[in-house]
Amino acid sequence: MKTNEKKNPIILGIESSCDETAAAVICGRKILSDEIASSADIQSLYGGVVPEIASRAHTDAVASVVERAVKNAGITYQDIDAVAVTYGAGLLGALLVGVSFAKAFAYALNKPLIAVNHIRGHLAAAYLDEPTLKPPFITLLASGGHTAILHTKTQSEFEILGATLDDAVGEAFDKVARVLGLKYPGGPHIERCAKEGKPVIPMPKMLKGGGGYNFSYSGLKTAVINYCHTCEQRGENYQKADVAASFQCAAIDVLVEKTVAAAKERGVNCVTAGGGVAANGYLRESLKAACQKNGLHLVLPEKRYCTDNAAMIAAEGLTQYQLGNFADLRLTAKASIPLAATLKTVQNGK
Ligand code: KG4
Ligand code: ZN
Repeated sequence: MKTNEKKNPIILGIESSCDETAAAVICGRKILSDEIASSADIQSLYGGVVPEIASRAHTDAVASVVERAVKNAGITYQDIDAVAVTYGAGLLGALLVGVSFAKAFAYALNKPLIAVNHIRGHLAAAYLDEPTLKPPFITLLASGGHTAILHTKTQSEFEILGATLDDAVGEAFDKVARVLGLKYPGGPHIERCAKEGKPVIPMPKMLKGGGGYNFSYSGLKTAVINYCHTCEQRGENYQKADVAASFQCAAIDVLVEKTVAAAKERGVNCVTAGGGVAANGYLRESLKAACQKNGLHLVLPEKRYCTDNAAMIAAEGLTQYQLGNFADLRLTAKASIPLAATLKTVQNGK
């Protein structure tokens, strides 16, 4: 792989894997602009993301979101050094809107195209938060589709120390929210509801101290659903806020505990986190306290860079740019990419 020369290239990132159409411009690790148009409000009427609605919303928004990102960055189209786009994983139709737009845009401007894996984007968000950040560090990946603890060895080499054996933590938040009658996406609503309650309802053991660095969320999810259904069948009222708080503690405490244990075991003194669940206030406070107690340096991206955004896609684009890993016009979208493949540096998004 050749190493690209320009030290602080200007990269346009484009993201359309789910219900957010996003575009951002970075120069090196500095964010120049960051635009998002979301169809979450329409989607919440249906209790989840309807793929066709997402694709149509992306189609309507993509050109103007990119135009705004370039304008607000104070640059011209010609100043862009490369166009980075999410090619997977996500909703196929939604991804295709971003990929097709990025290909046409890069071709028309004669700029290199970079294929970015969405999850690698979530992991790269930490580099924007602390521009001097350098591996090695331990990374907690807590998203809607994945839950894992990684030993990040270089910007493109990762070792999976543990992962979920079943559901992802974000998925558990979304499913529990549904049972509690909260809106999509469930995570922020559970967080809000939990603030009014106390973690007083017993929850199943969460492979704490056991199972190595692996996680299991399906048992916790089922326990919460059973608790609510049993109360309903008996005609008993239950406190939604207490259920939310109890679930949130059980779901998050194990993530924090294992992340810190991994850093200590590996002798690594820096920790990062990424993915939508890393926007959770309880997780953020718990991880901050645990890192502080154990003398670990924590790099925790701002909330808006934990949930979907295009700055993180541009950040991972920068890593690929520096590796000289460019895509061509045959690039297409991929709906699913397993975690092991996600963490390998794939040439040209194939
Ligand atoms: O990382 P993400 O974009 O998913 C993937 O790329 O796979 O994150 C989406 C997930 C959803 O499950 C959402 O409910 C959760 O992140 N989430 C949260 C919060 N904000 C978003 N979960 C808990 N607390 C939050 N504040
Ligand atoms: Zn995401």
